[in-house]
Amino acid sequence: MKIMTKPAEMQKASLAWQRRGESVALVPTMGALHEGHVALIRRAAKLADRVVVSAYVNPTQFNSRLDFKKYPHTSDWDFRCARQAGADVLFRPKSLYAKDASTWVEEGARARGRCGAWRPDHFRGVATVVVKLLGIVQPQVVVFGEKDLQQCEVVERVVRDLFLPVRIVRHPTIREADGLALSSRNLRLNSIQRRLAGRWAGAVREAAGSGARVGAVKLRVLLRGVNGIRLEYAEVVEGHLCAAAYVGKIRLIDHRRCREKS
Ligand code: PAF
Repeated sequence: MKIMTKPAEMQKASLAWQRRGESVALVPTMGALHEGHVALIRRAAKLADRVVVSAYVNPTQFNSRLDFKKYPHTSDWDFRCARQAGADVLFRPKSLYAKDASTWVEEGARARGRCGAWRPDHFRGVATVVVKLLGIVQPQVVVFGEKDLQQCEVVERVVRDLFLPVRIVRHPTIREADGLALSSRNLRLNSIQRRLAGRWAGAVREAAGSGARVGAVKLRVLLRGVNGIRLEYAEVVEGHLCAAAYVGKIRLIDHRRCREKS
């Protein structure tokens, strides 16, 4: 597996594969790879001849400077993980923004509400960097984790609206034994917070189990007065209970399909 840092070099390699008739899949990440990413890379390897994993902590999708600065970096681990999972290239650009960059991709429907309501411009940053990565790698397929459900929805809409010639594949959320969705941010949880995060995941599952009509209210009730967990939002969208909460200073998101009540 190769590491590439320059967009032009990455694009050249990808186009060369494609000229030889090989298809290319992209797995966009911000590094700090975990089993969830490994599952995405393995899936990508089944869908295309070549797999590019991008690892770029995109500054424009963070709302707080501190959150950006504290985002975990695990470069050597990422290299080993991506290689073992079957990636051909780990694309690790230094920056994807020129000093005077002035082009943004803004999706105006799916990005509203849920995380979009609490993280102004977050999805603008995500959509912009994803379109940049698509322009560089020019893959036939991109694999996203369904854990970031709203992100999947936004990217799918951008790809549809801009007629981008790429297929988006969603991969199911991978969870720990206690139900906590895998996320790079989990690395920042201390042992007490990790237990609370498991409790949060259990509450989301239980609330979704009580059906779409009452799921959001139920989650608020379940988490009311729980020391160390601060619910940010709980909304049912298209039959999914979607929620975000802070455990200490660490923001966690999750979603579960609501049980259909007869
Ligand atoms: O899901 C992520 O890790 C990021 O939002 C993404 C898609 C790599 C864009 O920076």
